[in-house]
Amino acid sequence: MASTHSLSLSSYAKVNLYLDVIGRRPDGYHELLTLFERISLCDTIRLTEISSDEIVIASDTREIPCDATNLAWKAADLIKRSFSVKKGVKIEILKRIPVGGGLGGGSSNAACVLSGMNRLFGLGLGRPVLVDLANRLGSDVAFFVSGRRFAVGRGRGGDLKGASIPSDVRLWHVLFVPPRNIITKDVYALFDRGSQRAKTGQNPKKTLTLTKNSENVNILLSYLRRGELSSLNRKIYNRLSETVEESYSFVSELRADLSKLGLKWVHMSGSGPTLFVICKDQKYAQRVYDEARARLFNKCRVFCTSTL
Ligand code: C5P
Repeated sequence: MASTHSLSLSSYAKVNLYLDVIGRRPDGYHELLTLFERISLCDTIRLTEISSDEIVIASDTREIPCDATNLAWKAADLIKRSFSVKKGVKIEILKRIPVGGGLGGGSSNAACVLSGMNRLFGLGLGRPVLVDLANRLGSDVAFFVSGRRFAVGRGRGGDLKGASIPSDVRLWHVLFVPPRNIITKDVYALFDRGSQRAKTGQNPKKTLTLTKNSENVNILLSYLRRGELSSLNRKIYNRLSETVEESYSFVSELRADLSKLGLKWVHMSGSGPTLFVICKDQKYAQRVYDEARARLFNKCRVFCTSTL
Protein backbone atom coordinates (compact mmCIF):
# COMPACT_ATOMS: atom_id res chain seq x y z
CA MET A 1 0.00 0.00 0.00
CA ALA A 2 1.02 3.61 0.41
CA SER A 3 4.68 4.39 0.94
CA THR A 4 5.72 8.04 0.67
CA HIS A 5 6.54 7.80 -3.01
CA SER A 6 4.07 5.28 -4.28
CA LEU A 7 0.40 4.62 -3.75
CA SER A 8 -2.19 2.13 -4.86
CA LEU A 9 -5.86 3.05 -5.27
CA SER A 10 -9.10 1.33 -6.27
CA SER A 11 -10.77 3.14 -9.15
CA TYR A 12 -14.48 2.27 -9.00
CA ALA A 13 -17.06 2.20 -11.80
CA LYS A 14 -20.55 3.72 -11.78
CA VAL A 15 -23.98 3.05 -13.18
CA ASN A 16 -26.60 5.71 -13.84
CA LEU A 17 -29.95 4.93 -12.20
CA TYR A 18 -31.47 7.95 -13.91
CA LEU A 19 -30.29 9.94 -16.90
CA ASP A 20 -32.33 12.50 -18.75
CA VAL A 21 -31.15 14.97 -21.33
CA ILE A 22 -32.86 18.27 -20.58
CA GLY A 23 -31.49 20.27 -23.51
CA ARG A 24 -28.47 21.64 -25.38
CA ARG A 25 -26.04 23.99 -23.63
CA PRO A 26 -24.33 27.00 -25.18
CA ASP A 27 -20.97 25.16 -24.80
CA GLY A 28 -22.23 22.39 -27.11
CA TYR A 29 -22.67 19.88 -24.29
CA HIS A 30 -26.04 18.66 -23.04
CA GLU A 31 -27.83 19.67 -19.89
CA LEU A 32 -28.33 16.49 -17.85
CA LEU A 33 -30.14 15.28 -14.80
CA THR A 34 -28.64 12.06 -13.59
CA LEU A 35 -28.39 9.82 -10.54
CA PHE A 36 -25.00 8.16 -10.17
CA GLU A 37 -24.29 5.04 -8.14
CA ARG A 38 -20.73 3.96 -7.39
CA ILE A 39 -20.24 0.20 -7.77
CA SER A 40 -17.69 -2.34 -6.63
CA LEU A 41 -16.25 -3.18 -10.08
CA CYS A 42 -12.88 -1.45 -10.13
CA ASP A 43 -9.53 -0.89 -11.78
CA THR A 44 -6.36 -0.56 -9.74
CA ILE A 45 -4.27 2.57 -10.15
CA ARG A 46 -0.71 2.68 -8.88
CA LEU A 47 0.98 6.06 -8.76
CA THR A 48 4.73 6.33 -8.31
CA GLU A 49 6.75 9.50 -8.04
CA ILE A 50 9.57 9.59 -10.58
CA SER A 51 12.53 11.94 -10.63
CA SER A 52 12.24 12.95 -14.29
CA ASP A 53 9.67 15.66 -15.00
CA GLU A 54 7.27 13.56 -17.10
CA ILE A 55 4.04 11.58 -17.01
CA VAL A 56 4.34 7.91 -17.86
CA ILE A 57 1.36 5.59 -18.29
CA ALA A 58 1.48 1.80 -18.33
CA SER A 59 -1.43 -0.59 -18.51
CA ASP A 60 -2.16 -4.30 -18.70
CA THR A 61 -4.48 -3.72 -21.70
CA ARG A 62 -4.02 -2.33 -25.17
CA GLU A 63 -7.61 -1.10 -25.14
CA ILE A 64 -6.60 2.22 -23.59
CA PRO A 65 -3.98 4.64 -24.93
CA CYS A 66 -0.82 5.06 -22.86
CA ASP A 67 -0.18 8.61 -24.07
CA ALA A 68 -1.41 12.19 -23.66
CA THR A 69 -4.86 11.27 -24.99
CA ASN A 70 -5.60 9.19 -21.89
CA LEU A 71 -7.78 11.16 -19.44
CA ALA A 72 -5.58 9.93 -16.57
CA TRP A 73 -2.59 11.56 -18.32
CA LYS A 74 -4.58 14.80 -18.71
CA ALA A 75 -5.48 14.69 -15.00
CA ALA A 76 -1.80 14.36 -14.04
CA ASP A 77 -0.85 17.15 -16.44
CA LEU A 78 -3.56 19.42 -15.00
CA ILE A 79 -2.26 18.87 -11.46
CA LYS A 80 1.34 19.43 -12.51
CA ARG A 81 0.56 22.64 -14.39
CA SER A 82 -1.90 24.06 -11.85
CA PHE A 83 0.37 23.54 -8.83
CA SER A 84 3.81 23.75 -10.46
CA VAL A 85 4.73 20.18 -9.55
CA LYS A 86 8.17 19.62 -11.04
CA LYS A 87 8.43 15.93 -10.24
CA GLY A 88 7.04 13.30 -12.58
CA VAL A 89 4.59 10.47 -12.03
CA LYS A 90 4.19 6.95 -13.32
CA ILE A 91 0.56 5.83 -13.59
CA GLU A 92 -0.02 2.09 -13.80
CA ILE A 93 -3.57 1.07 -14.69
CA LEU A 94 -4.79 -2.48 -14.14
CA LYS A 95 -8.00 -2.52 -16.19
CA ARG A 96 -11.03 -4.45 -15.02
CA ILE A 97 -13.77 -1.96 -15.93
CA PRO A 98 -14.86 -2.53 -19.55
CA VAL A 99 -13.63 0.27 -21.81
CA GLY A 100 -16.28 2.37 -23.58
CA GLY A 101 -19.09 0.62 -21.72
CA GLY A 102 -20.88 3.56 -20.07
CA LEU A 103 -19.43 2.61 -16.68
CA GLY A 104 -17.18 5.66 -16.27
CA GLY A 105 -13.86 3.80 -16.18
CA GLY A 106 -11.77 6.53 -17.84
CA SER A 107 -13.34 9.25 -15.68
CA SER A 108 -12.80 7.20 -12.55
CA ASN A 109 -9.11 6.66 -13.41
CA ALA A 110 -8.72 10.42 -13.91
CA ALA A 111 -10.39 11.10 -10.56
CA CYS A 112 -8.00 8.67 -8.85
CA VAL A 113 -5.04 10.46 -10.41
CA LEU A 114 -6.30 13.83 -9.08
CA SER A 115 -6.87 12.56 -5.52
CA GLY A 116 -3.80 10.32 -5.63
CA MET A 117 -1.38 13.04 -6.80
CA ASN A 118 -2.85 15.33 -4.16
CA ARG A 119 -1.73 12.80 -1.55
CA LEU A 120 1.49 11.70 -3.24
CA PHE A 121 2.84 15.25 -3.56
CA GLY A 122 1.28 16.54 -0.31
CA LEU A 123 -0.60 19.31 -2.11
CA GLY A 124 -3.28 19.63 0.58
CA LEU A 125 -6.10 20.33 -1.88
CA GLY A 126 -9.61 20.17 -0.45
CA ARG A 127 -12.56 18.44 -2.10
CA PRO A 128 -13.98 21.64 -3.72
CA VAL A 129 -10.68 22.28 -5.55
CA LEU A 130 -10.52 18.66 -6.70
CA VAL A 131 -14.14 18.83 -7.92
CA ASP A 132 -13.32 22.00 -9.86
CA LEU A 133 -10.31 20.32 -11.51
CA ALA A 134 -12.43 17.23 -12.20
CA ASN A 135 -15.02 19.28 -14.05
CA ARG A 136 -12.33 20.62 -16.37
CA LEU A 137 -11.55 17.05 -17.42
CA GLY A 138 -14.94 15.49 -18.12
CA SER A 139 -18.56 15.17 -17.11
CA ASP A 140 -18.33 12.16 -14.78
CA VAL A 141 -14.99 12.86 -13.10
CA ALA A 142 -16.46 15.05 -10.32
CA PHE A 143 -18.70 12.21 -9.13
CA PHE A 144 -15.70 9.94 -8.59
CA VAL A 145 -13.74 12.67 -6.83
CA SER A 146 -16.71 13.41 -4.56
CA GLY A 147 -16.29 10.11 -2.72
CA ARG A 148 -20.07 9.64 -2.62
CA ARG A 149 -21.88 6.33 -3.14
CA PHE A 150 -24.86 8.06 -4.72
CA ALA A 151 -25.16 11.59 -6.10
CA VAL A 152 -27.48 13.61 -8.29
CA GLY A 153 -25.67 15.35 -11.16
CA ARG A 154 -26.93 18.37 -13.06
CA GLY A 155 -25.42 20.63 -15.73
CA ARG A 156 -22.93 18.63 -17.75
CA GLY A 157 -23.24 16.00 -15.03
CA GLY A 158 -20.61 17.41 -12.67
CA ASP A 159 -22.79 19.81 -10.72
CA LEU A 160 -23.34 17.43 -7.81
CA LYS A 161 -25.68 17.11 -4.88
CA GLY A 162 -25.56 14.33 -2.29
CA ALA A 163 -28.48 11.94 -2.18
CA SER A 164 -28.52 11.07 1.58
CA ILE A 165 -29.02 7.37 1.17
CA PRO A 166 -28.52 5.40 4.42
CA SER A 167 -25.20 3.55 4.46
CA ASP A 168 -26.91 0.16 4.86
CA VAL A 169 -28.67 0.52 1.48
CA ARG A 170 -26.74 -1.68 -0.91
CA LEU A 171 -27.96 -2.70 -4.33
CA TRP A 172 -26.79 -5.81 -6.16
CA HIS A 173 -26.50 -5.77 -9.92
CA VAL A 174 -25.56 -8.00 -12.78
CA LEU A 175 -23.92 -6.14 -15.66
CA PHE A 176 -24.00 -7.37 -19.24
CA VAL A 177 -21.30 -5.87 -21.43
CA PRO A 178 -21.43 -6.46 -25.20
CA PRO A 179 -18.07 -7.06 -26.91
CA ARG A 180 -18.33 -3.79 -28.85
CA ASN A 181 -18.01 -0.37 -27.29
CA ILE A 182 -19.80 2.89 -28.03
CA ILE A 183 -18.39 6.41 -28.23
CA THR A 184 -20.36 8.81 -26.01
CA LYS A 185 -19.98 11.70 -28.42
CA ASP A 186 -21.63 9.63 -31.19
CA VAL A 187 -24.59 8.80 -28.97
CA TYR A 188 -25.27 12.47 -28.22
CA ALA A 189 -24.97 13.31 -31.93
CA LEU A 190 -27.50 10.58 -32.76
CA PHE A 191 -29.73 11.80 -29.95
CA ASP A 192 -29.63 15.34 -31.39
CA ARG A 193 -30.59 14.05 -34.82
CA GLY A 194 -33.54 12.18 -33.26
CA SER A 195 -34.63 15.31 -31.37
CA GLN A 196 -34.41 17.34 -34.57
CA ARG A 197 -36.72 14.85 -36.33
CA ALA A 198 -39.07 15.09 -33.35
CA LYS A 199 -39.22 18.88 -33.76
CA THR A 200 -40.13 18.58 -37.43
CA GLY A 201 -42.88 16.16 -36.49
CA GLN A 202 -41.40 13.03 -38.07
CA ASN A 203 -40.80 11.23 -34.84
CA PRO A 204 -42.60 12.81 -31.92
CA LYS A 205 -40.90 12.16 -28.59
CA LYS A 206 -41.99 13.26 -25.17
CA THR A 207 -39.91 15.94 -23.48
CA LEU A 208 -40.23 16.22 -19.75
CA THR A 209 -39.79 19.51 -17.96
CA LEU A 210 -36.94 19.86 -15.47
CA THR A 211 -39.51 20.03 -12.65
CA LYS A 212 -41.08 16.76 -13.71
CA ASN A 213 -37.64 15.20 -13.97
CA SER A 214 -36.61 16.41 -10.53
CA GLU A 215 -39.81 14.91 -9.14
CA ASN A 216 -38.95 11.59 -10.79
CA VAL A 217 -35.48 11.61 -9.26
CA ASN A 218 -36.92 12.44 -5.83
CA ILE A 219 -39.36 9.53 -6.10
CA LEU A 220 -36.50 7.26 -7.20
CA LEU A 221 -34.45 8.40 -4.20
CA SER A 222 -37.32 7.73 -1.80
CA TYR A 223 -37.67 4.15 -3.11
CA LEU A 224 -33.92 3.74 -2.84
CA ARG A 225 -33.92 4.94 0.80
CA ARG A 226 -36.67 2.45 1.61
CA GLY A 227 -35.11 -0.35 -0.45
CA GLU A 228 -38.33 -0.84 -2.47
CA LEU A 229 -36.87 -2.69 -5.39
CA SER A 230 -39.87 -3.27 -7.64
CA SER A 231 -40.93 0.38 -7.42
CA LEU A 232 -37.31 1.38 -7.96
CA ASN A 233 -37.10 -0.69 -11.13
CA ARG A 234 -40.12 1.11 -12.55
CA LYS A 235 -38.52 4.53 -11.99
CA ILE A 236 -34.99 3.79 -13.25
CA TYR A 237 -34.71 5.63 -16.54
CA ASN A 238 -32.21 6.38 -19.27
CA ARG A 239 -33.19 8.83 -21.99
CA LEU A 240 -30.35 7.64 -24.24
CA SER A 241 -31.31 3.97 -24.29
CA GLU A 242 -33.88 4.35 -27.09
CA THR A 243 -31.34 6.17 -29.28
CA VAL A 244 -28.68 3.54 -28.53
CA GLU A 245 -30.94 0.57 -29.16
CA GLU A 246 -32.25 2.06 -32.41
CA SER A 247 -28.76 2.75 -33.70
CA TYR A 248 -26.74 -0.21 -32.39
CA SER A 249 -28.59 -3.45 -33.04
CA PHE A 250 -26.16 -5.45 -30.88
CA VAL A 251 -27.63 -3.67 -27.85
CA SER A 252 -31.28 -4.35 -28.71
CA GLU A 253 -30.33 -7.95 -29.54
CA LEU A 254 -28.70 -8.31 -26.12
CA ARG A 255 -31.86 -6.92 -24.49
CA ALA A 256 -33.90 -9.53 -26.37
CA ASP A 257 -31.56 -12.29 -25.14
CA LEU A 258 -31.90 -11.06 -21.56
CA SER A 259 -35.64 -11.02 -21.91
CA LYS A 260 -35.51 -14.69 -22.97
CA LEU A 261 -33.69 -15.38 -19.68
CA GLY A 262 -36.78 -13.98 -17.95
CA LEU A 263 -35.15 -10.68 -16.96
CA LYS A 264 -37.88 -8.07 -17.05
CA TRP A 265 -36.31 -4.86 -15.78
CA VAL A 266 -33.19 -4.32 -17.85
CA HIS A 267 -31.55 -0.87 -17.73
CA MET A 268 -28.72 0.84 -19.61
CA SER A 269 -25.88 2.70 -17.94
CA GLY A 270 -24.72 6.09 -19.25
CA SER A 271 -24.40 6.18 -23.03
CA GLY A 272 -24.22 2.38 -23.08
CA PRO A 273 -23.83 -0.23 -24.23
CA THR A 274 -23.72 -1.89 -20.79
CA LEU A 275 -27.10 -3.23 -19.69
CA PHE A 276 -27.81 -4.15 -16.08
CA VAL A 277 -30.40 -5.56 -13.74
CA ILE A 278 -30.88 -4.83 -10.05
CA CYS A 279 -31.23 -7.89 -7.83
CA LYS A 280 -32.87 -8.19 -4.42
CA ASP A 281 -29.82 -9.77 -2.80
CA GLN A 282 -26.42 -11.26 -3.48
CA LYS A 283 -27.78 -14.80 -3.77
CA TYR A 284 -30.22 -13.86 -6.52
CA ALA A 285 -27.55 -11.78 -8.28
CA GLN A 286 -25.23 -14.80 -8.22
CA ARG A 287 -27.97 -16.97 -9.78
CA VAL A 288 -28.58 -14.45 -12.58
CA TYR A 289 -24.82 -14.15 -13.09
CA ASP A 290 -24.32 -17.94 -13.31
CA GLU A 291 -27.20 -18.39 -15.73
CA ALA A 292 -26.15 -15.49 -17.96
CA ARG A 293 -22.56 -16.75 -18.02
CA ALA A 294 -23.73 -20.19 -19.06
CA ARG A 295 -26.24 -19.06 -21.70
CA LEU A 296 -24.76 -15.81 -23.07
CA PHE A 297 -21.02 -16.54 -22.88
CA ASN A 298 -20.57 -15.74 -26.58
CA LYS A 299 -22.70 -12.57 -26.51
CA CYS A 300 -21.48 -10.50 -23.58
CA ARG A 301 -19.24 -10.33 -20.56
CA VAL A 302 -21.08 -10.63 -17.26
CA PHE A 303 -20.18 -9.02 -13.91
CA CYS A 304 -21.79 -9.26 -10.49
CA THR A 305 -21.41 -6.01 -8.51
CA SER A 306 -22.88 -4.05 -5.63
CA THR A 307 -23.08 -0.47 -4.39
CA LEU A 308 -19.78 0.55 -2.88
O1 C5P B 1 -17.38 14.89 -20.70
P1 C5P B 1 -17.09 13.61 -21.39
O2 C5P B 1 -15.72 13.58 -21.98
O3 C5P B 1 -17.41 12.40 -20.59
O4 C5P B 1 -18.11 13.59 -22.61
C1 C5P B 1 -17.89 12.85 -23.79
C2 C5P B 1 -18.75 13.45 -24.90
O5 C5P B 1 -20.14 13.28 -24.60
C3 C5P B 1 -18.59 14.95 -25.08
O6 C5P B 1 -17.56 15.23 -25.99
C4 C5P B 1 -19.94 15.37 -25.62
O7 C5P B 1 -20.00 15.15 -27.01
C5 C5P B 1 -20.91 14.40 -24.96
N1 C5P B 1 -21.55 14.97 -23.76
C6 C5P B 1 -22.53 15.95 -23.91
N2 C5P B 1 -23.12 16.49 -22.80
C7 C5P B 1 -22.79 16.05 -21.57
C8 C5P B 1 -21.82 15.06 -21.40
C9 C5P B 1 -21.21 14.53 -22.51
O8 C5P B 1 -22.85 16.36 -25.02
N3 C5P B 1 -23.40 16.59 -20.51
